Amino acid sequence: MSWWSPEIGVKVYGQAAVALVAVIIVICTIVRIFTFLTLGVCKSKKQMNGKTVIVTGANSGIGKETVMDLARRGARVIMACRNLETASKVRAQIIEETKNKNVVLMKLDLSSLTSIRNFAQEVNRAESRLDVLIHNAGVANTFSKNTTSDGLEVTMATNQFGPFLLTHLLIDLLKRSAPSRIVVVASELYRFASINLDNPNPVNTLPAYLYYVSKYANILFALELAKKLQGTGVTANCLHPGMIDSGIWRNVPFPLNLPLKVIVKGFFKSPAQGAQTTIHCAVSDELDGVSGKYFLDCKEHGLSQGVQDPAVAKKYWEICERLVKLEPTDPRI
Ligand SMILES: NC(=O)c1ccc[n+]([C@@H]2O[C@H](COP(=O)([O-])OP(=O)(O)OC[C@H]3O[C@@H](n4cnc5c(N)ncnc54)[C@H](OP(=O)(O)O)[C@@H]3O)[C@@H](O)[C@H]2O)c1
Repeated sequence: MSWWSPEIGVKVYGQAAVALVAVIIVICTIVRIFTFLTLGVCKSKKQMNGKTVIVTGANSGIGKETVMDLARRGARVIMACRNLETASKVRAQIIEETKNKNVVLMKLDLSSLTSIRNFAQEVNRAESRLDVLIHNAGVANTFSKNTTSDGLEVTMATNQFGPFLLTHLLIDLLKRSAPSRIVVVASELYRFASINLDNPNPVNTLPAYLYYVSKYANILFALELAKKLQGTGVTANCLHPGMIDSGIWRNVPFPLNLPLKVIVKGFFKSPAQGAQTTIHCAVSDELDGVSGKYFLDCKEHGLSQGVQDPAVAKKYWEICERLVKLEPTDPRI
């Protein structure tokens, strides 16, 4: 006589399911406690009255929380967003919560060189100063290959080429406002990538991988930028915000998005926690004059050798200049 029966099967599978859920809950709790204990928090009490800050991609996630904090510190904050409809609701909420009416919204689509030029022209026309430029906006596509109207691969255009052009077009204003800062939100995921100098506009590469490449490019860019800006009073630093429960994961398709949702909700930090290192890089007095560094949890962090290669950074810079079609009359860095 067999010891197995449908009733025993239901019981065994039921117990296994309960055990699995229990293990997941325990792991999530341990990770959450670890995250809480190691969390970098910007301790600076610096007020930013009289300072102007641009935050790109400010209508959601880390960008929104960055604006919220800077508005509380009294800064004039320019929210540079592509979707003015959702961004205006977020702006209203930020003004309501911080009581700072000096939060303005401007249109910026980083995947369009024309939009970047229009945005920069308006900033240069209307703003008397720019103390901090925060390159926060980013997109992570998974499978859908896409090129912009300028013929650039869309993930690279949004995350790297757009910020590269924007920095050039605003550099004179940053220099006039010195000491000023440029903050680049990169990612530890850069460690899974490298730059192929022979294929800098990789339109036929898997977009999911290009997210990593774009973050590698962000770090190369920030380090080279810091070098080129030595002596100008403008600093440039980059950072990893941590793994954050934000909109960046929205393009992961079904069914991959289901386990990802469990991981994101169970293990990742909140956007407000994710904004801490950006805020630290933007405001902390202890970073006065500090440039060309990479931060994680509000602390300086090491980088791999490859991403610090000055020869690659120099060549990549020249490639980016060509890809964004810098004009002879544009400022050079
Ligand atoms: N979440 C993480 O775990 C994590 C980890 C490492 C690094 N990061 C980096 O953190 C930064 C902020 O991302 P997040 O996590 O806060 O994600 P998010 O909530 O998706 O925010 C990204 C922002 O970028 C904007 N954006 C996307 N494409 C744009 C374009 N073409 N022009 C202008 N704005 C554009 C989005 O605007 P729409 O709302 O209009 O799409 C949104 O406001 C990104 O650079 C990301 O790579 C995130």
